[in-house]
Amino acid sequence: AMEQTFIMIKPDGAQRCLVGEIISRFEKKGFSLRGLKLVSVDSAFAEKHYADLSAKPFFNGLVEYIISGPVVAMVWEGKGVVKTGRTIIGATNPADSAPGTIRGDFAVDIGRNVIHGSDSVESARKEIALWFPEGVVEWQSSLR
Ligand code: CMP
Repeated sequence: AMEQTFIMIKPDGAQRCLVGEIISRFEKKGFSLRGLKLVSVDSAFAEKHYADLSAKPFFNGLVEYIISGPVVAMVWEGKGVVKTGRTIIGATNPADSAPGTIRGDFAVDIGRNVIHGSDSVESARKEIALWFPEGVVEWQSSLR
């Protein structure tokens, strides 16, 4: 099956009206949107999403950030989308992310870094299962 990744526009990205810009970058690169929803999550859900980071000193702040407003949860599909998606997003710390990347263009603070993308095919599989238990959408090939 074609590779998929989980991408989330965080509350600051949605609040700052970067949703269209971010979707546009993934579309123009050539990836296919397979799932899309605007959702508010509670702390239990955010803790599940970031379970691997539960020992980090910034964990509680991270959970507060993610529950502070609606997020845009997406599944994108295409060749190498996990790695290339992270290239489009840029380095986790906006201080290190290159201009031309989403974080490089739109963020300054690691604690408000606009967007999340799965870091591996295995994380993507888990995150898609968590955020899209209902499954994703098939394109009809005649329309693509
Ligand atoms: P994300 O790609 O969602 O993966 C984990 C998140 O933890 C990361 O983006 C940041 O939002 C957050 N994060 C990582 N390191 C720090 C840090 N040092 N301080 C605050 N937040 C961090």
